[in-house]
Amino acid sequence: MQDIFLDNRVVIVFLHVISAVVWVGGMIVMRYAAHQSFAEIESPEKRLERMAHALKRLFIIVFPFVIILIVTAVFMLLGYDIKNTEYRSLAHAKEGIWTVMFIALIVMILRRNKGAKLLAAGDTLGAKAQLEVIGKYMVPLNIILGVVAIFLGTSFFK
Ligand code: HEM
Repeated sequence: MQDIFLDNRVVIVFLHVISAVVWVGGMIVMRYAAHQSFAEIESPEKRLERMAHALKRLFIIVFPFVIILIVTAVFMLLGYDIKNTEYRSLAHAKEGIWTVMFIALIVMILRRNKGAKLLAAGDTLGAKAQLEVIGKYMVPLNIILGVVAIFLGTSFFK
């Protein structure tokens, strides 16, 4: 594993960074561009329908990058032998952040799916309750955690 990492260090770090860019950048665009724009749609059904659709697209796009992020992280953990360096706790902090972000992503996917089903069944209020939490709390929380993880990433080997 260490040999694979050392032979492909640039590609692995690149894949790690681009995954963070897509995941965190995707959430920022969703929350502060798309969401803001959808909020102007007057019909609640249409508004929720657009939000649910855009979230579905976002989750489909980011999911592979979330997996690439953790796979490349494992390569780096083993490749740099981080557990035997002074950066051990930094790595633990990033592992913790990735885990919380991943669990939040799964919860958001489940809530979105439930919201879309309720919307299709004509339960607009139920759908709103499912989707609102995603936009109000969960995406902003994941953006903050992602930014902290990026900051911690820049703190390695300094
Ligand atoms: C799962 C646990 C993680 C581990 C063990 C980990 C480990 C690392 C390591 C060792 C580096 C330094 C690479 C180098 O300079 O050669 C790094 C950089 C980076 N990490 Fe992570 N990472 C993890 C999760 C994350 C997450 C969740 C994000 C953001 C969503 C992230 C974003 C970044 C970024 C943007 C860099 C590049 C920083 C720079 O170029 O200075 N990482 N990470």
